[in-house]
Amino acid sequence: PTTRYYDWTVESATVTVNCVTVPRIVVNGEFPGPTIYAVEGDRIVINVTNKANTDVSIHWHGVRQILSNWHDGVPYITECPLKQDEYFVYNFTVENQQGTVFWHAHISWLRATVVGALIVYPRSFTYPYPKPDEEFTVLLGEWWNTDPNAVEIGGVYTGGGFHVADALLINGKPGSLYNCSDVEGISTFKVKSGKTYLLRVINAGLNTETFLGIANHTQTVVSADGEYVLPKDINTSFISPGQTLDVLITADQEPGTYYMESKSYSSILITDTTVLPPVVVMSLRNDEPKIPASAIFQYDTSPPLDPSQTFFPALPEENDTDPTFRFLDSLHTLYPDQVPAQATRKQFFTVGLGTQPCNPDTKVQNCTLATVAHINNITWVQPVSSVLKAYYFGIGGVYKTDFPDIPQHFFDFTNADSPDTPEQRTELGTRLSVIKYGTVIDLVLQGMNNLLFQNHPFHLHGHSFWVLGRGMGNFDPNTSPSGLNYHDPPFRFTVDVPTRGWVAIRWKANNPGVWFFHCHLEKHTTWGMMMGFIVLNGDGPDETLPPPPEHLTSCST
Ligand code: C2O
Ligand code: CU
Repeated sequence: PTTRYYDWTVESATVTVNCVTVPRIVVNGEFPGPTIYAVEGDRIVINVTNKANTDVSIHWHGVRQILSNWHDGVPYITECPLKQDEYFVYNFTVENQQGTVFWHAHISWLRATVVGALIVYPRSFTYPYPKPDEEFTVLLGEWWNTDPNAVEIGGVYTGGGFHVADALLINGKPGSLYNCSDVEGISTFKVKSGKTYLLRVINAGLNTETFLGIANHTQTVVSADGEYVLPKDINTSFISPGQTLDVLITADQEPGTYYMESKSYSSILITDTTVLPPVVVMSLRNDEPKIPASAIFQYDTSPPLDPSQTFFPALPEENDTDPTFRFLDSLHTLYPDQVPAQATRKQFFTVGLGTQPCNPDTKVQNCTLATVAHINNITWVQPVSSVLKAYYFGIGGVYKTDFPDIPQHFFDFTNADSPDTPEQRTELGTRLSVIKYGTVIDLVLQGMNNLLFQNHPFHLHGHSFWVLGRGMGNFDPNTSPSGLNYHDPPFRFTVDVPTRGWVAIRWKANNPGVWFFHCHLEKHTTWGMMMGFIVLNGDGPDETLPPPPEHLTSCST
C-alpha cells in the first residue's frame, strides 16, 4: 500500500457556470474539486487549510473510516469545524473497499462547490466484470446563481420554502439544454467504436434525485455505493444525492453524437387523490430544476461525424415513480454470503416534516410555527462541541443517549395530515442511539406524508447496510420475510425512503465510534433531519483511537 499526500486550500475563487460569474468557495481554485485516486489499502493524508471566510470541514463520503472516526469530517459530530486560517490533517486508509465514493464539505450548503470524486481501485486492478478500456467520472451536481449558503439561511430564517437550484450539472457544466453551452461548452466523453467505458457516476447534488440515460446505449450497472452488484442491463439509472453507481457502456452504436442527460425526479404522482385537494401537490413540489443537465458521448471518427447523427435519450417523466422502484429492486449484491442471517435489534424511525414554535434554536424569526424536519419526532440540534470528543473524554452535557427505537406516536403515517398536529410536533434534541459493537440491526425507515412529497435519501456514516426492500403506505411489521430480500440485497450507504412509503435495511455495527445518520438533501438537514449512532468499543483490537492533536481545541465560536 502507498501513502498519498495532498495539500488542499479551501478558498474563494471566481467561477463561471450558467452564464453567471461569481465568487464561490472551492478547493485549490478548482470546480469541481480535485479527484483523489487510490488503491484499496492505501493511506490518504490530506492537509486541508481553510482560507475561506467561513467554517469548513471535509467529509469522505463512503470511506468507512475503520478506527479513524476522528477523520470523518462531520462538524460537531467528529470534529470542530475549521475556522478561517486553521488547518487539519485528515489521515485515513481505504481498507476493505473499492469503487466510487466522493468527498464534500459537510457544513452549511458548501457542498455545492466544495466537492469531488474519490476513486478506489482494486488491488492489481481486477474487477468482477470485464475490464473496461477506459473510464470517466460523471459528477452530478447543482448550480445556484446566488450563494447557496445564503439560500440556506433564507430558507431557515423565513421558515418558508427554498429557492430551486438554477441548473443541474454534469462535471460542473449544465450542457446545451441550458442557454450557455455555446459560451461555456458541454462536458464531452470521447469514445471509440467497440470500446467499453466505465462511468463512475456520483450524485453530489444538494436536493435533486435524478434519472440518468444515454441515447441508444445500454447501461450495465456493476456497482452501487462502492459495492459490487450483479451486473444489470438497463436503459435509465436512478441516483439520489449521496449515492454512486458504476456503469459500463459499450460504444456499440453507429458513430454519432449521443446525449447523456441527468433529469430531475420529483417523487409525486400528478393524479394522486390521497392528498386533498389534489391540485396542491404540483404547486408544493414544483421545486426541482426542470431542465436536464446534458453531456455528450461523442464517437471519435475520421472523417468527422455527420452532424445529423445526433441522438437524445428518452427518460421517464419527472414524477414517474415506477422506474425508480424497478431500478432499485433490480440491484443485488454480488456477495450474498456476507448478509447476516438475523438481526438482534429492531428499530423503526419515522422521517418527515414537523413544526416547532419559533425560537432561537430553530433560528426562525417572525413566524408563529417554524417548519422543521425530524426523525421519530426529534429535530436534531447541533451540540456545542464534537460528540465524539465528549464521548471519548466523558464530557457531560453535550448529548443524550436516549434516541428512541420506535416513534412516540403511531398513526397513519401516510395520510394527509397537516404538519400542525400533535403527532407532528417535534422535540428539539441532540439525542443518539447507542449500539453494542457487533449488533445486527433491522431498521425500518417510514416516510411520512405531511407536505413533504419527496423521498429522503438517508446516508449512514462509517458503515454500509443491506437494503432489504421497500413499499408504499405504512410498514406492516408482519411483512412476511418473503416480501423482503434477505438473500442478496444490495449493500449501500445511502437509501431512499419513499415519500409515503417505507424502506427496510439491515446493518452490522462493526465500526466503533460516533456515526452520523441523516437525509442527504440539504434542505432537510438544514431543518434537522439527522441523528447519530454511537457504536461502542468492542473487546480486543476494536478500540476507538485517541484523537489527533488538532482536535483538542474547543468548538466554541
Ligand atoms: Cu455525504 Cu453526512 O454526508
Ligand atoms: Cu429528506
